[in-house]
Amino acid sequence: MKNFIFGTIATVLVLTIVFSIQQGFLFSKTLPYDDEQKGLDKQITIHLSHVVAENTPKGQAATKFAELVEEKTNGKVKVHVYPNASLYNDENEFQALQDGKVEMIIPTFSKMTSYVPDWQVLDLPYLFHTDDEVLEVLTGPIGEQLLDELKPFNVRGLGFWHNGFKHLTAERPIHTFEDLQGLRIRTMPSKTLEKQFSLVGATPVSISFSEIFTDLEAHAIDAQENTASNIFSKGFYKVQKNMTLTKHGILGYSVLMNEKFWEQLPPKVQKQLMEAMRETTDWQFKQAVLMNGNDLRKLQQENDFEIYTMSDAERQRFQEKLAPVYDFYQADVKQHHILSEIQKIVSP
Ligand code: SIN
Repeated sequence: MKNFIFGTIATVLVLTIVFSIQQGFLFSKTLPYDDEQKGLDKQITIHLSHVVAENTPKGQAATKFAELVEEKTNGKVKVHVYPNASLYNDENEFQALQDGKVEMIIPTFSKMTSYVPDWQVLDLPYLFHTDDEVLEVLTGPIGEQLLDELKPFNVRGLGFWHNGFKHLTAERPIHTFEDLQGLRIRTMPSKTLEKQFSLVGATPVSISFSEIFTDLEAHAIDAQENTASNIFSKGFYKVQKNMTLTKHGILGYSVLMNEKFWEQLPPKVQKQLMEAMRETTDWQFKQAVLMNGNDLRKLQQENDFEIYTMSDAERQRFQEKLAPVYDFYQADVKQHHILSEIQKIVSP
């Protein structure tokens, strides 16, 4: 009987040990390394801050990117989007990115020109004529060269996005460039943009996007340049009486990530993020064109808001008046060849 009890206990013990080893309860097995395993248990969160409304080319693209990232990583990476400068504004978002307080921001390339002067090329007036030209330049080798210039800033450029062509809004009608004389015109902080308005005798005022509405309302500024989608979504038409379709320059974005954050991501996640980025970019350029068309039509239906299309002859005069901006730009940049490379792509 004693032998039977000992035998049973010994058998149960041996079976328990064998089972535990098989299940890895006793000795954990070291799995061969693979990318997916690194940080497997960790949810990765990307805080993405931007300054415009959600129903804009940038706002919608940020949301689309967040959805695609979640889908491609099976929920491992979550992108939290903070629109409308609710986290950081034009003045402090780049510092916040460099300090790792947010992982991603999407500033206009114009706002990056104090760090990367060569990007002023994208602010040159009347350089681009069609959205397709913008697409080819920003998503091709020239775009890559420009993004490479971010390296010294602990920042990775994931790509460029588009908004559209800029027009003018003002309190008074603007039919010729002479009508701009003496006006205080809000611009983004870019020496090239400031020069553009000095040349027509206006005073450029560089203020944050989130302050334009109140400054227009308070008559602290008289005019501003922007795309139809920004003018509509931020309600500038409620505090300005006139818009002139000038198509004198482009407005677009650089999609930026903190470099240290990028480097510590598993390679597989980096690949998934870049796939999401490429898909969003393809979609975004088309969506930006559609949204600007729709928002312009909505602006045309507003009462007490006049939209004037500058004549071709007047646009030609405006372009000639602004020609010295090109010499100004050339004197301020290092990579002079970028302009000539763009000029090979765009129509004269
Ligand atoms: C933006 O589209 O991000 C803002 C543009 C501006 O500051 O005018």
